[in-house]
Amino acid sequence: MVDSPIATATYRVRPMALDDVDQVVAVEKLCFPLPWPAQTYRRDLSYNGPARYLVVEQVPPSARGNPRVVGFCGYWLIEDEAHVSTIGVHPDFRGLGLGEYLFASLLAEAMERRATSATLEVRLSNLTAQRLYRKYGFEPTGRRRRYYRDNHEDALLMGVDSIDGEAYAARFDALWRNLMQRLARSPTPDKNPAAGAAS
Ligand SMILES: CC(C)(COP(=O)(O)OP(=O)(O)OC[C@H]1O[C@@H](n2cnc3c(N)ncnc32)[C@H](O)[C@@H]1OP(=O)(O)O)[C@@H](O)C(=O)NCCC(=O)NCCS
Repeated sequence: MVDSPIATATYRVRPMALDDVDQVVAVEKLCFPLPWPAQTYRRDLSYNGPARYLVVEQVPPSARGNPRVVGFCGYWLIEDEAHVSTIGVHPDFRGLGLGEYLFASLLAEAMERRATSATLEVRLSNLTAQRLYRKYGFEPTGRRRRYYRDNHEDALLMGVDSIDGEAYAARFDALWRNLMQRLARSPTPDKNPAAGAAS
């Protein structure tokens, strides 16, 4: 365990940059049967539109070596609604709290940007992701029949309202504190997601 890169590494969430795209696409291919082309990220990152992306990177313990992108997420902010468009963590780095670190950072940034609600679509069979979303207050709101092109699986629509309210802020703060404690037990990410995520 002492020699494991995970035992000594730290993790940091930050905005995705154009230079990250090749690494993101490589991780995404390990996450989804229908990964997005690199061009989609490059276009969205170059054009100052509603799409926002974050990455989580593994920071080497010393100055030697380069940080490695091990996860990514994105959302569109349309007026006051954040729509989560993608999230994925490299299979070797799952179960460490990094998906939650990304998702909570995304929500924190959206709240800073005055989002009042958030929505997403998820495969009906993807109970792992649904559990993460439920943890942050998302509930099913509908279904899109045969939404996914590879296997015609239905999409479950999930959403959460009033993320600008005091009750949600209290819930979010408690989750964030727990997440930081969990991550501090092995990796040590940045302590302030909103500052890290804002560009
Ligand atoms: C969904 C995904 C991003 C979760 O990332 P992760 O880093 O493994 O998740 P975390 O370790 O941060 O766990 C956060 C929460 O997710 C849920 N979760 C994670 N792994 C789980 C598992 N094996 N079984 C059930 N729930 C799980 C839990 O709610 C967990 O919180 P808890 O530990 O308090 O129970 C990751 O599994 C992934 O990349 N999957 C492939 C891509 C994908 O399906 N993306 C979602 C598209 S809608």
